[in-house]
Amino acid sequence: ARKIIIDTDPGQDDAVAILFALGSPELEVLALTTVAGNVPLDQTRRNARIVLEIAGRGDIPVYAGCDAPLARPLVTAEHVHGKTGLDGIDLFEPAAPLADGHAVDALIRILREEPAGSVTLVPIGPLTNIATAFQRAPDIIARVQEIVLMGGAYFEVGNITPAAEFNIFVDPEAAKIVFASGAPLTVVPLDVTHDALTNRDWIETMRASGPVGRAVAGWTDFFERYDREKYGSEGAPLHDPCTIAWLLRPDLFQGRHINVEIETQGEFTTGMTVADWWRVSGRAPNAMFLRHIDREGFLALLTERLTALDR
Ligand code: BDR
Ligand code: CA
Repeated sequence: ARKIIIDTDPGQDDAVAILFALGSPELEVLALTTVAGNVPLDQTRRNARIVLEIAGRGDIPVYAGCDAPLARPLVTAEHVHGKTGLDGIDLFEPAAPLADGHAVDALIRILREEPAGSVTLVPIGPLTNIATAFQRAPDIIARVQEIVLMGGAYFEVGNITPAAEFNIFVDPEAAKIVFASGAPLTVVPLDVTHDALTNRDWIETMRASGPVGRAVAGWTDFFERYDREKYGSEGAPLHDPCTIAWLLRPDLFQGRHINVEIETQGEFTTGMTVADWWRVSGRAPNAMFLRHIDREGFLALLTERLTALDR
């Protein structure tokens, strides 16, 4: 199985992404590293353990990472995810403790211990932990198999400012380091995830599946409300699970290998992912920037893998 580390700030859609990976035998989740994002670190590090426990996978280590962006105050998204970050189900105190040590140290250690080129990083929150690890231990960059991240937006543009997507906006300096690192990079932007929508039938299918499905239904029920009111969309965009879908079925996506730069200085555009779709800049490509997803294919795959956890 392909080894992955999910770097996360759960988040209802983070939770679904984690469960999607756990339900997929092609993937081995080595660890979850948590970061401040949707809600502060105190909550994301607890939420990650709650998600694992719901899937009966309290054996997977959860590390707590950075509690603030590299150079800016933390911006959170309780307006989307609720006060806890995982509103929509009754939360409980997880039985498994946090793993010892800082997430950045864990990332460095695991990448050095595992064979070079055998570990894929899946960041689905702000990129603070990954950038800090790359800065502190540049030798690990060449050992990363691939980075598959949810973040950015170009054609569909922003969800936290008119120009920027939340994960990149929260820590643009970190994003800049990761995008310039030279590690093979696939970017799943809002352009893709705004098509990866739930619908009422799907939520009811989930609710009928068992304990994992019920949690997913509770979360997406909650999450959906925001998008319906804000964008008039018919369901909740499953942003973060798209990264897992790319690992399993890249044929469900279309994109281009292009240059993508991160704006860190803009008066109105800080956090923008400037994607050179038409290759007009002459700058070297550094990312596979995805643009389209087969929505039905995605939902079918997700359903199969989530319901497998209830069997
Ligand atoms: C991203 O921001 C968070 O709110 C979601 O979990 C997702 O990772 C979408 O912009
Ligand atoms: Ca997230």
